[in-house]
Amino acid sequence: MIYRNFSLKQYNTFGLDYRTECFISIKSEDDLINYIAEGQKFPLPWLILGGGSNILFTEDFPGTILHPENEDINIEERTSDHVIVSVGAGTNWDRFVEWCVDNDLGGTENLSLIPGNSGAVAVQNIGAYGVEVKDIIHKVKAINLHTGKEKSFSNEECRFGYRDSIFKHEEKGNYLITRSYYKLNIRHIYSLNYGSLEEEVKRLGAKNLRNIRQAVINIRQSKLPDPGLIGNAGSFFKNPVVSNQMAEELKNKYQHMPMFEDPSGNKKLAAGWLIEQCGWKGKRIGDTGVHEKQALVIVNYGKATGKQIYDLSESVKKSVFEKFGIALEREVELVGAI
Ligand code: EPU
Repeated sequence: MIYRNFSLKQYNTFGLDYRTECFISIKSEDDLINYIAEGQKFPLPWLILGGGSNILFTEDFPGTILHPENEDINIEERTSDHVIVSVGAGTNWDRFVEWCVDNDLGGTENLSLIPGNSGAVAVQNIGAYGVEVKDIIHKVKAINLHTGKEKSFSNEECRFGYRDSIFKHEEKGNYLITRSYYKLNIRHIYSLNYGSLEEEVKRLGAKNLRNIRQAVINIRQSKLPDPGLIGNAGSFFKNPVVSNQMAEELKNKYQHMPMFEDPSGNKKLAAGWLIEQCGWKGKRIGDTGVHEKQALVIVNYGKATGKQIYDLSESVKKSVFEKFGIALEREVELVGAI
C-alpha cells in the first residue's frame, strides 16, 4: 500500500507528528521487489522505518518511508541442541521473544520488552542485561534497494559491534532486511550476571526462561518509561568507551563512577551516571525532559518538537563534556535538519 502525505505520529516512539511525502507498507519480499522496480515513482530519499523506536525526526520527511510489515515466525531447522527460527522483519520484537519462551527456546529472554520490530534488531545489534542480539543471530536476509537482488549476510558479515553493524556503515541505506534467522538453544544457557537480574529471578521462583523474561520485564518497567504513555526512544546516548588510562584518571577523581570491562580491552562508562552527576536527571524543559528514573532516556511529555528534544540532548552532551571531558555519542538516529 502506498500513502501520500502520511502522518508518522504512530510510527515513532517519541510520538512526534511529522509527515512523510510518501509511505509504503511492505507486506512481503515480492512486494518490495516490485516497489524497487518502479522506484522512480517514489520521491527520494528513501528511509527504512521499523518500529520507530530509535529515531528522532526533526521535521517533515521529504522522501519515501519503507515500512516492512511481513509478520511471521517459522522453524527452519532443528538439531539435538538448537533450532533455527526465521522471523519476518515486520514482526514485533517482543512478540518474537514471547514466542521463544512459549516454545521453550533459549537466547532471547534477556532481550524482553525492547520496543521495535525484528528488522531493525540486527541493524542496531540491540542489547540488554548482558546479552546482545549478535550472540544469537545466525544470518539475515536483505534486499538491495538499488538492484532488487536478495543477499544473505552471515553473522560475521554483519560486522556487529556495540549498537552497531555493517548496516550503519558501508551498507547504510543500501539494504532492507526482510528476514532474520536466530539460533536458539534447546539446552538453556542462562545469563544472569547483570545487575539485580539474578536476584529478581530468585524472587520469582525457579530459574527458567519464563521467569527470566518476567524478571527483565519487571526491571525494565521499574526504570524505563513506557513509550505508549510517555514518548521516548530508550537510551538516547551510547555508553562511552574510554582508554584504561583515562578510566584510571577518572576513577581517581570520581571514586563512585561505574566502569565495566569492554570487549575491546578498554573501559565502558555509564552515560546515565555521567548525565545524573551533571544534575539532569528528572529535569524538565517545556515538554521535553530527562527521565526521572534513568538519565539516559530523553522524553517527550506530549507537545515537544523534534528540535526541542535535540536541543535538550545537546545541552546534556555539553554538560557531560564540560564536567568529564567525555563526548557522548547518540544512539538514536537523527532524521532532518537541526
Ligand atoms: N546509572 C546512574 N544513573 C542513571 C542511570 C544509570 O547512575 O540515571 C548507573 C546505574 O546505577 C548503573 C549504570 O549506570 O551503575 C548502568 O545502568 P543500567 O543498568 O540502567 O544500564 P545503562 O548502561 O544505563 C544499558 C543499555 C540499555 C539496557 C540496559 C540494561 C545502552 C546505551 N543502554 O543502559 O539499553 O536496557 O543497559 O542492560 O547501552 C537502549 O539501548 O535503548 C536501552 C534501554
